[in-house]
Amino acid sequence: MISTTLLQKGVLASLCIRMQHTTPMTSMQIQVGQCLPDVMVHEGDPGNGISMAQLFRGKRGVLFGVPGAFTPGCSKSHLPGFIQMSEDLRARGICEIACISVNDAFVMSAWGKQNGADGRVRMLADPTGAFTQAVGLLLNNNQMVQVLGNFRSQRYAMYIEDGVCRKISVEPDGTGLSCSLAQNFLSGVL
Ligand code: BEZ
Repeated sequence: MISTTLLQKGVLASLCIRMQHTTPMTSMQIQVGQCLPDVMVHEGDPGNGISMAQLFRGKRGVLFGVPGAFTPGCSKSHLPGFIQMSEDLRARGICEIACISVNDAFVMSAWGKQNGADGRVRMLADPTGAFTQAVGLLLNNNQMVQVLGNFRSQRYAMYIEDGVCRKISVEPDGTGLSCSLAQNFLSGVL
């Protein structure tokens, strides 16, 4: 027979597991003037690690975060906007343009290929959400967990110079398509 203490321990353990899956550690959102954290993400394949701190070192770049690969708003508006502006951005010296999502590298790669991102926008995978959490941009919203299955990224766009965040626009509701769209965000940068 299971003792009361064992039962209590079991209930506590299951509560802890539930907490781990529903309550992420929260970090402060990255501020203008702060460096990108040195967190590894994946590009193309889980074996291809990219350091977020090094990616933008010595360069001007744009990073935009999306709630999910293949979701309608990200596929129809957010990603295409940056792909369309990529040539113009490069002509103006913004040579690193990257999209990041809490997805795996295979999904990000397939999504990029479907949208013609190759050579224009780098498709970065943050499968554990480690980078997204480190910059305080996890989409901590239970309604979204019901839709997307786990914690994802808020929708945002960030302008970076030599690894330092110089401008950041985060969608007020976390997923909308306004201030982080390429045309809207870049009008204040270019
Ligand atoms: C989107 O269409 O971008 C979207 C859909 C569901 C959840 C979050 C984003």
